[in-house]
Amino acid sequence: MEETLPPTGVHGMGHKIRRKEDVRFLMGKGTYVDDIKLPNMAYLVFVRSPYAHAKIKKINVEKAKSIPGVIDIITGEELDKAGLAWIPTLMGDKMMVLPTDKVVFQGQEVVAIIAEDRYAAMDAANQVEIEYEPLEPIADPKKALEPNSPIVRPDKKSNLVFRWEAGDKEATDKVFKEADIVVSQDFYYQRLHVAYMEPVGSIAHYDPVSGKLTLWMTTQAPHVVRTVFSLVTKIPENKIRIVSPDIGGGFGGKVYVYPGYVVSAYASIKLGRPVKWINTRSEDMRSTAFARDFHIHGELAAKKDGIIVGLRIKVISDHGAFYGDANPSKFPAGLFSICTGAYDIKAAYVEVTGAYTNKPAGGIAYRCSFRVTEASYTIERLVDTLAHELGMDPAELRLKNFIPSEKFPYRSALGWTYDSGNYASALKKAMEKIGYYELRKEQEEKKKKGELMGIGISTFVEIVGAGPADLFDIVGIKMFDSAEIRIHPTGKVIARFGTRAQGQGHETTYAQIISEILGIPVEDIIVEEGDTDTCPYGLGTYASRSTPTAGAAAAVASRKILDKAKKIAAHLLEAREEDIVFEKGKFYVKGYPDKYKTIQDVALAAYTNPPPNIEAGLEAVTYYNPPNMTFPFGAYICVVDVDKGTGQVKVRRFVAVDDCGNIINPVIVDGQIMGALTMGFGTAFMEEIRYDENGNIYGGSFAEYLIPTAVETPRWELDKTVTPSPHHPLGAKGVGESATVGSPAAFVNAVVDALWDLGAKHIDMPIWPWKVWKVLKEKGMAS
Ligand code: CDP
Repeated sequence: MEETLPPTGVHGMGHKIRRKEDVRFLMGKGTYVDDIKLPNMAYLVFVRSPYAHAKIKKINVEKAKSIPGVIDIITGEELDKAGLAWIPTLMGDKMMVLPTDKVVFQGQEVVAIIAEDRYAAMDAANQVEIEYEPLEPIADPKKALEPNSPIVRPDKKSNLVFRWEAGDKEATDKVFKEADIVVSQDFYYQRLHVAYMEPVGSIAHYDPVSGKLTLWMTTQAPHVVRTVFSLVTKIPENKIRIVSPDIGGGFGGKVYVYPGYVVSAYASIKLGRPVKWINTRSEDMRSTAFARDFHIHGELAAKKDGIIVGLRIKVISDHGAFYGDANPSKFPAGLFSICTGAYDIKAAYVEVTGAYTNKPAGGIAYRCSFRVTEASYTIERLVDTLAHELGMDPAELRLKNFIPSEKFPYRSALGWTYDSGNYASALKKAMEKIGYYELRKEQEEKKKKGELMGIGISTFVEIVGAGPADLFDIVGIKMFDSAEIRIHPTGKVIARFGTRAQGQGHETTYAQIISEILGIPVEDIIVEEGDTDTCPYGLGTYASRSTPTAGAAAAVASRKILDKAKKIAAHLLEAREEDIVFEKGKFYVKGYPDKYKTIQDVALAAYTNPPPNIEAGLEAVTYYNPPNMTFPFGAYICVVDVDKGTGQVKVRRFVAVDDCGNIINPVIVDGQIMGALTMGFGTAFMEEIRYDENGNIYGGSFAEYLIPTAVETPRWELDKTVTPSPHHPLGAKGVGESATVGSPAAFVNAVVDALWDLGAKHIDMPIWPWKVWKVLKEKGMAS
């Protein structure tokens, strides 16, 4: 393997440098919320509901109070008096912090115990006596939307969260009527847990003298949480400081505002002591926000020759008890309308109906920009189904229908303007790398011998970088993002951002962007995120938005600094500004490269000898409002072998050709892709949070919720094409979630490809071996 460079020297875009932050992570010196210990700190533990739906008749805390070490016990009734029993969600709904009348999902927080240590709090939690009257639970979103269904929410008259549509229904229906062939399929994109390494938690510290509330919390979006907290509690926003320290994975699951954050803050203000709350793993799996849970009916209309003419999709989405998705507010079903994918489809119509059920709130963008993986999965499964029905090669069918590269910027039937793309070149590269046609021949040979082998393709289009301010906001706050870069007199840099990495390596890649433009070595650039007292306001890190937004802000702010630096250099070199050339950290007069001033000389002069008409200092702030989203894409091909005896699917090969425009750090990008592919693999073959019809969770721990380890994970074969974004200042697009968005369809397409001749048109994820075995058994194939 090619060696990666240590993070020293001027390493701008495209350099494979090792991650600066890894030194502290590898040495075990990261600081996560649970690592922080404050003097006199108390601990908070929740009593949780055993029922999915029940009236609370009585809560008796007397026994619990008598447990040594217990400091306080907080119920919904008390929070209600403080106006905090319900708080707004980021989607404009309301959610219970602690219930007053009834519980609405199993595992819901009901009573908070505050004690001197976690053990005393847990002992006391076991002694709280709650009398429930079970109510009829509703766990199936389809049933929840039926007229006589039990109603989940005490404050609502029905279980309808929203009904949303996009596209031209009439035109699409017409196209479907006239089409030569229509294929349709039901898909369930199952409920997933994010399964980050670090469960959610917070420490609240209220200082009664200054009136300042400091919260360390596992949030991906500290500034927005600060604003919401301020609006809800009426504490002035400048007296709230939110710090997201190191975060052990977020993937969308840490955007939600959890009851623990609110109750720890309330308790700290009430008790005048710092209060720490950390979920256990199983609490986390049972109660925190979930992803997906889309019941999809998709239809594709085409001509005999395989030209796709229309797409029609109906979805029922399960949001649990609260609508707590973190979508931009104008997009109730997220960006699902990217579902026309990589294809030039003239007519499309989508309808999504959201339902409340007695389950934890769901719908977060788990490594997926707001429902893009659901969209990508649907279109890629449908295209493969069409290919099979037509007896066409799925690669050839795709090549026939791709948006041609000369059509960019391309306006999709559902209203998105794709910035740039070259889908055919990515697919051809993947086909060549994997030896596609030879594999098809091998498959034919195997078929003759009764062996099952499948090849699955997925050519996905992502939509990341939320987003243009006229379209994208969260609770009214526009989805720009920010960078503040300050160069000290000695040429060292501190740069602060409105985003917050949870493992993506921003400390390295943001430094590379600044290094690229200003020629300052990356080791001289410190990147800080996640402290609302010091960082400029931002919307946070999720949905692969950091590079398209804050990364762009870093480039623009660096260029502002360069403009000023040029003026100072002109002054130092006694030349006109227009004659100054800047190259690799050096300023010189055109034609005289040997007589130069370095960026460090200029930084010093900015404080010691600025030109008379220029302010001292060398710094800039940018709030970047992207003109459009960026549209990364990729072509994935997966080869599987299916064991007829057990139904076990073995992923033999997986080639991933990704295109995220210009790359800042190829090692980080590959790491992002491998991680996301592994998550896509888990989705396709292993993971699901399941409930019975009464809303009881099956399991709720890693004993039942299987995530891939190194043993199961296939070897990923990565490649790239580079199609820069025309509007991003560096031509970059986001990448963090691409592979989670694109890969599930490739896996499932491969399995169905292996089983199609047996009559299997679809198997819902996760494709556990028994599901395949059942198909084989039905066809008399299982041994
Ligand atoms: O918002 P998030 O950081 O999760 O996603 P991203 O913008 O896709 O970036 C993930 C990581 O990949 C960051 O460290 C980026 O700087 C890096 N990246 C890159 O090096 N080149 C790109 N074209 C895109 C992302």
